[in-house]
Amino acid sequence: MLVAIDGPAGAGKSTVARAVADALGYTYLDTGAMYRCVGLRADAIDLADAGRLDIRFDGDRVLLDGEDVSEAIRTPEAGQAASRVATDPRVREAMVGRQRALIADGAWVAEGRDIGTVVAPDAEVKVWLDADPAERAARRGIPVEDLLERDERDATREHDPMVAAPDAVHVDTTGLTIEEVVAAIVALVPRTP
Ligand code: C5P
Repeated sequence: MLVAIDGPAGAGKSTVARAVADALGYTYLDTGAMYRCVGLRADAIDLADAGRLDIRFDGDRVLLDGEDVSEAIRTPEAGQAASRVATDPRVREAMVGRQRALIADGAWVAEGRDIGTVVAPDAEVKVWLDADPAERAARRGIPVEDLLERDERDATREHDPMVAAPDAVHVDTTGLTIEEVVAAIVALVPRTP
């Protein structure tokens, strides 16, 4: 079982996906954190070797080659670096392969930009989360121009661009509380009797 949540930066994906996973008892997968790890190492490695990086999740912590990078990957610079390396098809192939391997077993809530379109086009539930750009920039604490630059790069890249799956349910989080958004998504998940 997979709930795929895609959408642009600052739409609330991480907070919402985590809460949906908690509510359903599923495991949460933050695919953006994986690209952020590659972005951190962009100057140190050949991107063809991105697949050799040891990226692990330990609860809320993210470990890169054994180093706790949970805070380092959250800076605005790390976000821009992630968006740049994410245009590289070799990086994408490596990350998508790992993501597919992870979600192959069990029940997951995975969030990113291409979960419903590339990583898992057969996901049982697909959500496209969006919000007004000014609100998204405010949530991230970054200038709206930087946010729109990242969106533009993500949406226009040649490989696996950020786009809503045709069968995704669109949820606009502008002005909604986290609880309201979580309830709307949980309601989409079919219950096994
Ligand atoms: O979601 P987050 O802001 O952490 O993602 C950082 C960057 O990683 C995005 O701007 C995007 O370029 C890239 N990304 C991606 N595909 C995903 C998740 C993130 O290309 N599934």
